[in-house]
Amino acid sequence: MAKPTVVTMPGDGIGRIVLPEALRVLKAVGFAAEFIPADVGWDCWCREGNALPDRTIKLLETHKLGLFGAITSKPKDKAEAELDPGLKGKGYVYYSPIVTMRQHFDLDICIRPCRSFPGNPLNFIRRKGNSFEEPKIDVVVFRQNTECLYAGVEWTNPPAEVRTALETHKKMLAFKHVPSADLAISLRIFTRPACQRIVRAAFEYARKHGYKSVTVCEKPNVIRETSGMMEAEAKKIAQEYPDIALWSTNIDAQMMWLTKNPEDYGVIVSGNMFGDIVSDGFAGLVGGLGFAYSANIGKDVAVFEPTHGSAPKYEKLSPSIVNPIAMIMAAAMMLDHIGETEKARRIEKAVAKVVAEGKVRTYDMLRLAGGPDVFRSGAVSTQQMTDAIIAEL
Ligand code: NAI
Ligand code: MG
Repeated sequence: MAKPTVVTMPGDGIGRIVLPEALRVLKAVGFAAEFIPADVGWDCWCREGNALPDRTIKLLETHKLGLFGAITSKPKDKAEAELDPGLKGKGYVYYSPIVTMRQHFDLDICIRPCRSFPGNPLNFIRRKGNSFEEPKIDVVVFRQNTECLYAGVEWTNPPAEVRTALETHKKMLAFKHVPSADLAISLRIFTRPACQRIVRAAFEYARKHGYKSVTVCEKPNVIRETSGMMEAEAKKIAQEYPDIALWSTNIDAQMMWLTKNPEDYGVIVSGNMFGDIVSDGFAGLVGGLGFAYSANIGKDVAVFEPTHGSAPKYEKLSPSIVNPIAMIMAAAMMLDHIGETEKARRIEKAVAKVVAEGKVRTYDMLRLAGGPDVFRSGAVSTQQMTDAIIAEL
């Protein structure tokens, strides 16, 4: 078999710290691949006016597999202010490179596993009499990754023709008196094929991995058209999977229930916005940002990443304090995706063992405020955490 090639995009801030740690683990587990570094992120924006340069897109087109660290995004005015003086005023607009990448390659299936590692002091616990219990959480969120409010169809001060078109809807008449300058509109767009793809992906995953339920989490009673379409497609597709129960929850109620009975849920499927929310909610029950990771999967290209951002305040700390587990688990998920399941399981088991033993913990696992002092309170560095995981391999 040809040696696999992986495009590695560390990005900004701690992305540049955790991605090399994941590569160390991949090498230690015996994954013989060629890793091709590619530029992405804030520096590219400042120097070139494009946070996702064409050369990086080409590399992904060619090799089809990517590992992504994290990027820094800033509001419009800050982005413009930091642009190279030679590029200012030339019409460059900042777009988040990860959102652009998802849309460019139609990486429409986002998978966010939220599984508790026994022994993680950050795990959700529940009061039971004078004691507590720690339910095992094993949830996998399927988030539609390209549409909904993230499609980017939005206006502040919408042009007259947009207002006219919208006013063909009678509910829009309630806003007729609002001056355009005071009106901001973001469109929530769902398409039937995308709903079908994400729902089907969720059911296939549930069947393959033995989950008993798929929960479609939207709000169809209020957001009738878009949430309604997702729920309707889920009901149709569910008929092909009689062995798996289809549940339907509203996002608001789901956020409450996940703090009460999170162990009852298996696979969850949502549109882009609610998928983002519910996956962060569940991630918070299983360790938070140091443990949250995801896959962005399209028909040709797949990119794997931790959920966290570039955490700029920790970028310059040496030794580094951030938790590399989210990035390492993202790399394991990539192995799973390309059929290297045995290596993926070995990495997961090594992480699980280190967490369960509890001797090696990064600052977040000790609930410390981040900073250079955390080592005095018993935290290990990013590199020491990786070393411990590699030792377990
Ligand atoms: P963030 O995820 O970078 O950091 C928030 C806080 O979470 C940090 O201050 C730290 O306390 C903790 N944290 C994050 N990663 C951690 C890790 N691996 N180990 C231990 N603790 C960790 O989010 P924030 O501060 O809101 O955003 C910083 C920048 O990152 C912004 O420019 C934002 O736009 C960007 N961002 C990028 C994302 C991506 O690349 N996919 C996702 C989220 C934010
Ligand atoms: Mg989020």
